[in-house]
Amino acid sequence: MEKNSITIIQPDDWHIHLREGSITKLVIQDTYSVFGRALVMPNLDKPIFKPREAIEYRNFLNGLIPKSSNFSPIMTLYLNENITRDDIKIISSSENFGGIKYYPKGVTTNSSKGVTDYKSFFRIFELMEKYNVTLQIHGEVSDKSVDEFDREKVFIDKVLSDIVRQFPQLKIVLEHITSRHAVEFIKNASSNLSATITAHHLLYERNDMLSYGLKPHLYCKPILKRNSDMIALSNVALSGHKKFFLGSDSAPHLIGDKQSDCGCAGVYSAKYLIEILVQFFDNNNSLSNFEKFVSKNGANFYDVSFNKKKLFLERSRIKIPNFIGNEEMKIIPMMAGEFINWTSKLVE
Ligand code: DOR
Ligand code: ZN
Repeated sequence: MEKNSITIIQPDDWHIHLREGSITKLVIQDTYSVFGRALVMPNLDKPIFKPREAIEYRNFLNGLIPKSSNFSPIMTLYLNENITRDDIKIISSSENFGGIKYYPKGVTTNSSKGVTDYKSFFRIFELMEKYNVTLQIHGEVSDKSVDEFDREKVFIDKVLSDIVRQFPQLKIVLEHITSRHAVEFIKNASSNLSATITAHHLLYERNDMLSYGLKPHLYCKPILKRNSDMIALSNVALSGHKKFFLGSDSAPHLIGDKQSDCGCAGVYSAKYLIEILVQFFDNNNSLSNFEKFVSKNGANFYDVSFNKKKLFLERSRIKIPNFIGNEEMKIIPMMAGEFINWTSKLVE
């Protein structure tokens, strides 16, 4: 029987870009008004290299969150060679920290300070393994010789497989996976490996971006793949499999930076993210697994308690705005101008 409403444990977004300055003020409300926690990415213009910088950034974010909200930003450091044992101990012992993010150099926005030789970070991986600190990975190689659409697969086969062999106890999240190959790799890996999936990789394939006029607002990294990849991601998310959970990778860029000669990668999906996802689970007759994907699997993997609040979702038609912000600061959200059939409300 068709359900007209569901109530779930308040969800978390285990991968988000909140930026800094005035753009943060514009976007953060889309997240704090729904989610209990979000794992905040450290790829600011000046990357977050040290715990002290992460704490300052967290204070800035908290200053934008109303007192009535229970939202907690969970911080990450940008993997860099100056990370010390003490830094890792701080991350390990504070619930305000979620891990260290590995950006291969040159793969995406603000990754120029990223990793070139991953083996030179084995000292840090060893400490992370010892202190139970999670490594979040942007899983793509940036070699010019590797085709854009194969970069995730080559990373998994050459780099990730080696890291897993060398550090079998290291907790790893392969972020924003995009391919059937990634789904299979994570399914077959040990329980300390898991993966996040974005809404845009569940809803779109590369044809949507390339075949009916170029859609710059669907351009992201890792790039959208084939239909069979989208189906593999959808099937595993809809199944509620415990190793896969929501990390939106919502990544705001101003319209001029997206619609340009050299457009930035990133989809702004935070606007009505949870409503878009519940509609996706509903359309695929999988509402019973929705809470696992958005509220339970991630908390279980990160070993934190479920949020205390509940989110009530009900069938009711709303329109996603054509843009957010104003003429000076305009961002085009995912599914801009389209209708969805669900709304949400936090309840105690
Ligand atoms: O599309 C993306 N945008 N992928 C990333 O990995 C980074 C993000 C951003 O920061 O803009
Ligand atoms: Zn990201």
